[in-house]
Amino acid sequence: MVMLVAVFLVIQLIPVERNISRVPAGQSFEMTQKVPANVAAILKVSCYDCHSNNTRYPWYSELQPEAWFMAQHIKKGKEELNFDHFNAYSKRRKKAKITSIISQIEKEEMPLKSYLMLHSSARLSAADKMDLIDFFNTLN
Ligand code: HEC
Repeated sequence: MVMLVAVFLVIQLIPVERNISRVPAGQSFEMTQKVPANVAAILKVSCYDCHSNNTRYPWYSELQPEAWFMAQHIKKGKEELNFDHFNAYSKRRKKAKITSIISQIEKEEMPLKSYLMLHSSARLSAADKMDLIDFFNTLN
Protein backbone atom coordinates (compact mmCIF):
# COMPACT_ATOMS: atom_id res chain seq x y z
CA MET A 1 0.00 0.00 0.00
CA VAL A 2 2.76 2.40 0.99
CA MET A 3 4.48 1.46 -2.26
CA LEU A 4 1.34 2.28 -4.30
CA VAL A 5 0.94 5.61 -2.61
CA ALA A 6 4.60 6.35 -3.23
CA VAL A 7 4.27 5.49 -6.92
CA PHE A 8 1.14 7.63 -7.19
CA LEU A 9 2.94 10.57 -5.61
CA VAL A 10 6.03 10.19 -7.76
CA ILE A 11 4.11 10.05 -11.04
CA GLN A 12 2.45 13.34 -10.10
CA LEU A 13 5.83 14.93 -10.78
CA ILE A 14 5.81 13.96 -14.47
CA PRO A 15 5.25 17.23 -16.30
CA VAL A 16 2.66 17.35 -19.07
CA GLU A 17 2.47 20.09 -21.63
CA ARG A 18 -0.84 21.94 -21.56
CA ASN A 19 -2.91 22.43 -24.67
CA ILE A 20 -3.69 26.11 -24.36
CA SER A 21 -2.95 28.58 -27.12
CA ARG A 22 -4.54 31.64 -28.56
CA VAL A 23 -6.71 31.36 -31.67
CA PRO A 24 -6.22 34.33 -34.02
CA ALA A 25 -9.15 36.76 -33.91
CA GLY A 26 -12.01 35.70 -36.15
CA GLN A 27 -10.48 32.27 -36.84
CA SER A 28 -12.43 30.21 -34.31
CA PHE A 29 -14.75 27.55 -35.71
CA GLU A 30 -17.75 29.49 -34.30
CA MET A 31 -16.82 32.61 -36.25
CA THR A 32 -15.76 31.11 -39.57
CA GLN A 33 -18.64 28.63 -39.82
CA LYS A 34 -21.31 30.82 -38.18
CA VAL A 35 -22.07 28.19 -35.56
CA PRO A 36 -25.35 28.77 -33.68
CA ALA A 37 -24.86 29.35 -29.92
CA ASN A 38 -26.52 26.08 -28.83
CA VAL A 39 -24.26 24.02 -31.10
CA ALA A 40 -21.17 25.98 -30.07
CA ALA A 41 -21.95 25.26 -26.42
CA ILE A 42 -22.18 21.49 -27.06
CA LEU A 43 -18.94 21.42 -29.05
CA LYS A 44 -17.16 23.33 -26.32
CA VAL A 45 -18.15 20.89 -23.58
CA SER A 46 -18.00 17.65 -25.58
CA CYS A 47 -15.37 18.00 -28.32
CA TYR A 48 -12.96 20.91 -27.84
CA ASP A 49 -10.93 19.31 -25.04
CA CYS A 50 -9.33 17.08 -27.69
CA HIS A 51 -10.12 18.80 -30.98
CA SER A 52 -9.12 22.43 -30.44
CA ASN A 53 -6.20 24.52 -29.27
CA ASN A 54 -7.74 24.96 -25.84
CA THR A 55 -8.43 22.19 -23.37
CA ARG A 56 -10.24 22.81 -20.09
CA TYR A 57 -8.28 21.41 -17.16
CA PRO A 58 -10.49 20.49 -14.22
CA TRP A 59 -8.42 19.31 -11.18
CA TYR A 60 -8.92 15.61 -11.94
CA SER A 61 -7.38 15.95 -15.37
CA GLU A 62 -4.24 17.38 -13.74
CA LEU A 63 -3.72 14.14 -11.83
CA GLN A 64 -1.49 11.40 -13.21
CA PRO A 65 -1.98 9.06 -14.94
CA GLU A 66 -5.12 10.86 -16.24
CA ALA A 67 -3.12 13.91 -17.36
CA TRP A 68 -0.89 11.68 -19.45
CA PHE A 69 -3.84 9.86 -21.08
CA MET A 70 -5.46 13.20 -21.84
CA ALA A 71 -2.26 14.51 -23.43
CA GLN A 72 -2.20 11.45 -25.74
CA HIS A 73 -5.87 11.90 -26.68
CA ILE A 74 -5.32 15.59 -27.37
CA LYS A 75 -2.28 14.91 -29.54
CA LYS A 76 -4.07 12.27 -31.63
CA GLY A 77 -7.41 14.07 -31.60
CA LYS A 78 -5.91 17.32 -32.91
CA GLU A 79 -3.98 15.52 -35.62
CA GLU A 80 -7.24 14.06 -36.95
CA LEU A 81 -9.43 17.09 -36.46
CA ASN A 82 -8.73 20.53 -35.02
CA PHE A 83 -11.77 22.79 -35.11
CA ASP A 84 -9.49 25.82 -34.69
CA HIS A 85 -7.78 24.94 -37.98
CA PHE A 86 -10.92 23.81 -39.78
CA ASN A 87 -11.19 26.98 -41.84
CA ALA A 88 -7.72 26.40 -43.28
CA TYR A 89 -8.53 22.85 -44.43
CA SER A 90 -8.97 22.25 -48.16
CA LYS A 91 -12.53 21.97 -49.48
CA ARG A 92 -12.08 18.26 -49.84
CA ARG A 93 -10.72 17.79 -46.34
CA LYS A 94 -13.55 19.86 -44.87
CA LYS A 95 -16.10 17.65 -46.59
CA ALA A 96 -14.41 14.45 -45.43
CA LYS A 97 -14.22 15.71 -41.83
CA ILE A 98 -17.87 16.74 -41.79
CA THR A 99 -18.92 13.29 -43.01
CA SER A 100 -16.69 11.71 -40.40
CA ILE A 101 -18.03 13.96 -37.59
CA ILE A 102 -21.62 13.02 -38.40
CA SER A 103 -20.76 9.33 -38.51
CA GLN A 104 -18.75 9.44 -35.23
CA ILE A 105 -21.68 11.10 -33.47
CA GLU A 106 -24.26 8.72 -34.93
CA LYS A 107 -22.21 5.68 -33.96
CA GLU A 108 -21.54 7.16 -30.49
CA GLU A 109 -17.80 6.76 -30.99
CA MET A 110 -17.17 10.33 -29.85
CA PRO A 111 -16.56 11.64 -27.24
CA LEU A 112 -14.26 8.75 -26.30
CA LYS A 113 -15.80 6.36 -23.74
CA SER A 114 -12.74 6.47 -21.48
CA TYR A 115 -13.00 10.26 -21.33
CA LEU A 116 -16.70 10.19 -20.41
CA MET A 117 -15.94 8.20 -17.25
CA LEU A 118 -14.44 11.32 -15.67
CA HIS A 119 -15.97 14.04 -17.86
CA SER A 120 -19.61 13.02 -17.61
CA SER A 121 -20.91 16.46 -18.61
CA ALA A 122 -19.47 15.83 -22.08
CA ARG A 123 -21.93 12.98 -22.70
CA LEU A 124 -24.24 13.83 -25.63
CA SER A 125 -27.98 13.64 -25.03
CA ALA A 126 -30.27 12.56 -27.87
CA ALA A 127 -31.15 16.24 -28.39
CA ASP A 128 -27.47 17.26 -28.45
CA LYS A 129 -26.78 14.65 -31.10
CA MET A 130 -29.65 15.89 -33.23
CA ASP A 131 -28.53 19.53 -32.90
CA LEU A 132 -24.97 18.63 -33.90
CA ILE A 133 -25.97 16.41 -36.82
CA ASP A 134 -28.47 18.97 -38.15
CA PHE A 135 -25.82 21.66 -38.00
CA PHE A 136 -23.06 19.62 -39.65
CA ASN A 137 -25.48 18.63 -42.40
CA THR A 138 -25.92 22.33 -43.22
CA LEU A 139 -22.13 22.62 -43.71
CA ASN A 140 -22.03 19.70 -46.14
C1 HEC B 1 -10.96 12.67 -24.97
C2 HEC B 1 -10.63 13.28 -26.22
C3 HEC B 1 -11.68 13.38 -27.30
C4 HEC B 1 -12.90 13.99 -27.24
C5 HEC B 1 -13.53 14.68 -26.06
C6 HEC B 1 -13.47 13.89 -28.57
N1 HEC B 1 -12.60 13.23 -29.39
FE1 HEC B 1 -12.83 12.88 -31.36
N2 HEC B 1 -11.05 11.88 -31.43
C7 HEC B 1 -10.20 11.71 -30.36
C8 HEC B 1 -9.07 10.89 -30.77
C9 HEC B 1 -7.91 10.47 -29.88
C10 HEC B 1 -9.27 10.58 -32.14
C11 HEC B 1 -8.34 9.74 -33.03
C12 HEC B 1 -8.92 8.42 -33.38
C13 HEC B 1 -9.24 7.55 -32.21
O1 HEC B 1 -8.39 7.37 -31.32
O2 HEC B 1 -10.39 7.03 -32.16
C14 HEC B 1 -10.52 11.21 -32.52
C15 HEC B 1 -11.08 11.13 -33.77
C16 HEC B 1 -12.19 11.84 -34.16
C17 HEC B 1 -12.71 11.89 -35.51
C18 HEC B 1 -12.12 11.17 -36.70
C19 HEC B 1 -11.42 12.14 -37.61
C20 HEC B 1 -11.21 11.58 -38.98
O3 HEC B 1 -10.32 12.05 -39.63
O4 HEC B 1 -11.98 10.71 -39.40
C21 HEC B 1 -13.81 12.68 -35.51
C22 HEC B 1 -14.69 13.06 -36.69
C23 HEC B 1 -14.02 13.12 -34.14
N3 HEC B 1 -13.02 12.60 -33.36
C24 HEC B 1 -15.04 13.93 -33.74
C25 HEC B 1 -15.31 14.27 -32.43
C26 HEC B 1 -16.48 15.00 -32.02
C27 HEC B 1 -17.56 15.54 -32.94
C28 HEC B 1 -16.41 15.11 -30.66
C29 HEC B 1 -17.42 15.72 -29.74
C30 HEC B 1 -18.76 15.23 -29.83
C31 HEC B 1 -15.18 14.45 -30.23
N4 HEC B 1 -14.55 13.95 -31.34
C32 HEC B 1 -14.71 14.38 -28.93
C33 HEC B 1 -10.36 12.24 -29.11
C34 HEC B 1 -11.50 12.91 -28.66
